Amino acid sequence: MNKENPIGLFDSGVGGTSIWKEVHALLPNENTIYLADSKNAPYGIKSKEEIIFLSSKNTEFLLEQNSKIIVVACNTATTNAIKELRAKYDVPFIGIEPAIKPAALQSKTQTIGILATKGTLNSELFHKSVSNHPDVKIIEQIGHGLVQLIENGDINTPEMEELLKSYLIPMVEKNIDYLVLGCSHYPYLIPQIKRLIPSHIKIIDSGEAVAKQTKRILESLNLINGSNKKSSQIFYTNSEPEVLQKLLNYEQNVVYKSF
Ligand code: SIN
Repeated sequence: MNKENPIGLFDSGVGGTSIWKEVHALLPNENTIYLADSKNAPYGIKSKEEIIFLSSKNTEFLLEQNSKIIVVACNTATTNAIKELRAKYDVPFIGIEPAIKPAALQSKTQTIGILATKGTLNSELFHKSVSNHPDVKIIEQIGHGLVQLIENGDINTPEMEELLKSYLIPMVEKNIDYLVLGCSHYPYLIPQIKRLIPSHIKIIDSGEAVAKQTKRILESLNLINGSNKKSSQIFYTNSEPEVLQKLLNYEQNVVYKSF
């Protein structure tokens, strides 16, 4: 395997760019290819079979681009399909799971909240990680509609605020001291969330952990790109690129392509 081959990342849409940012910050020398399957977003309301089908298609696309490792930058795809992807394709996969463990271990009120999609909260993998913490009360909340608003670029809107309020206030009333963001789209909502919940409640997502794990696996496989060439960052989307561009702060050194 060529060390200059890219890291491939995919998500149901634009949200996984929150993961890409962490990966790129930690591994700036690596070439990356990001696939945003926005046309099929949200994955969180689809059946497990559909999620496996779409995740396989995304993986095949990234393998055609010679990805040396694949980051499943989508909680719903990870929790529903990563086992099947690992069984089917001969490439290392990094998944993103809700950060239940660090929240549960650090919670003082023994009560944590998790905001995620229906697909993630109903998955076997999620139930397994919850069952590892029987002493902690886990308040689950489906983020109905949030992904679609983010995909449409409607982040700072009254509609978003109303939805967030209706999901977060009941969790606050149940005395959570940690809020786990279990969807890679949600880190883009952190400023609004902070305005709605008391400041003692800590918000955690999994972006940094995913980046560190990607680095660890590349190192263990001796696949870190040591080239001095400027790295390339390519974003494929099957929708209009505007929202992607905005979330990437109109970053200049990025190429957008459609698929
Ligand atoms: C979705 O497509 O519904 C959300 C993606 C995620 O769970 O990260």
